[in-house]
Amino acid sequence: MMQQILDDIAEQMAIETKRGKVADYIPQLAHVDPSQFGIAVATPDGQVYAAGDASTLFSIQSISKVFTLTIGLNKLGSELWTHVGREPSGDPFNSITILEYEAGRPRNPLINAGAIAVVDAIMMGRQPKTVMTEILQFVRSVSDDDSIGFDHKVAASEMQHRDRNAALAHFMKSFGNLEHEVDEILDIYFHQCSVAMSCEQLARAGLFLVSNGINQATGVKVIKPQQSRRINSLMMMCGHYDGSGEFAYQVGLPGKSGVGGGILTIAPGKGSIAVWSPGLNPVGNSKLGTKALQLLVEKTGWSVFAN
Ligand code: DON
Repeated sequence: MMQQILDDIAEQMAIETKRGKVADYIPQLAHVDPSQFGIAVATPDGQVYAAGDASTLFSIQSISKVFTLTIGLNKLGSELWTHVGREPSGDPFNSITILEYEAGRPRNPLINAGAIAVVDAIMMGRQPKTVMTEILQFVRSVSDDDSIGFDHKVAASEMQHRDRNAALAHFMKSFGNLEHEVDEILDIYFHQCSVAMSCEQLARAGLFLVSNGINQATGVKVIKPQQSRRINSLMMMCGHYDGSGEFAYQVGLPGKSGVGGGILTIAPGKGSIAVWSPGLNPVGNSKLGTKALQLLVEKTGWSVFAN
């Protein structure tokens, strides 16, 4: 049943001609072939269903913000909210405008400024390498796959073209909202964004958010149930930046996108869905990924707004 649904969706996506535009502000991502499409669904019983290019690695980019948010909540608990807010921004992912009005405290942890503030909060005086290792270990643990790694070329490319993110970070630091050196924070942030994963790996990585913080396939308790619920609500409200309302309207599930063209989507109690297609819509979210999720939700009835 699920396998058939995914095969049908992949077949339909393969013939789409309007595939969006690949992100080119990170030169290393500009050359990814836009004809690719992958989808995978992991269910709490440990099954993974997949279709299309579901085992091809791609840059998870901003999807990594869900993982660092989880690490941050585990480490700091509600103290994390002194560094970052939890309201939708309604602005593009790299916008600086509200930061000035709100004294350098980013609106939420899923926009760039917020994710940079989360990195600063979890550093706790440690060296960037130590924190990067911690993030990678976390991703490997939740996806139960030790082969996952950074794409150092992507991280280096982002560091080289860091002006916008550096501006956000310096602006926050000028308000006293960052403790560590900007370039050290950014080095970690760009590495977390550079993590390369396939849809199959990413779908497994989302399983802890399907079952109240516990990955039922591995039995690992990743985060408290209450925090898992809250991460899902942040993904629903903020996971697609200024496209979050549209994503909630069209798909109706918590989701987090990345400019690499991936989207991780959680159907609580049912499954974790990862889609990938590199072409983006005008607000920077995967065009076909979103379309595929709409189809999946229609065919499965998986929506937090229906029963
Ligand atoms: O900081 C950046 O610009 C990228 N590393 C991540 C941006 C991103 O994925 C935004 N997503 N849609």
